[in-house]
Amino acid sequence: MKSFQIRPAKKGDFPKYAQMLQKSISKAYTNKKLGLPSSLFSEKIFSTKGFKAWMKGNLYPGPKKKTWVALSGSRLIGAVTIKQEKRLNELRGFYIDPKFQGKGLGKQLLKLSLGYSKGRDIILILYSHNLKSLAIYKKWGFIKHGKPGSHHWPLWPKGVRMKYTHLLLSRKKLEKLYNRL
Ligand SMILES: CC(C)(COP(=O)(O)OP(=O)(O)OC[C@H]1O[C@@H](n2cnc3c(N)ncnc32)[C@H](O)[C@@H]1OP(=O)(O)O)[C@@H](O)C(=O)NCCC(=O)NCCS
Repeated sequence: MKSFQIRPAKKGDFPKYAQMLQKSISKAYTNKKLGLPSSLFSEKIFSTKGFKAWMKGNLYPGPKKKTWVALSGSRLIGAVTIKQEKRLNELRGFYIDPKFQGKGLGKQLLKLSLGYSKGRDIILILYSHNLKSLAIYKKWGFIKHGKPGSHHWPLWPKGVRMKYTHLLLSRKKLEKLYNRL
């Protein structure tokens, strides 16, 4: 397997982080049959104030969260954020550049966030039509949790929504997965 550099995120990573996220999200969520064309995930959408704030909220270092980025040379090719909430940890912004998916990089990043979360359950939000990632999370031991919902992103035409579900990894399964990865 090719080796990549993984390190904690820095504020200066933002432009490359935003670019990588846009590419990965657009590839994962575009689905014309569901009324989700690629224009809903365009660079324009990602350059809105609200979206930039969401991305910075993930990337910028903070007392109760950790973000790691993966690099291939100077190219930012993946990231993951883990954030402490009251009773559990939330996994956010777990995205790999489409060209670098399936090479074991996701597992390396996940392992770091599991190490940070020992003794706590992990929750995440997954868009329901993202079946490829659902299969991967299930294999890792995540299960569906709580009530599904739907999101409307700023700038989207009225009525366009994306369904989501929560996935939970119990602290017990986390321990096992950590040792397996
Ligand atoms: C989900 C994601 C972060 C995983 O990262 P990755 O680098 O592609 O995954 P890895 O190469 O480390 O493989 C992880 C596991 O998934 C499996 N896998 C990889 N691609 C797969 C595919 N297309 N179908 C099924 N399983 C797959 C691997 O075999 C591996 O399994 P293992 O743990 O039993 O060895 C990445 O694919 C991605 O960014 N997807 C699009 C965005 C997304 O959906 N993010 C999650 C939002 S909640």
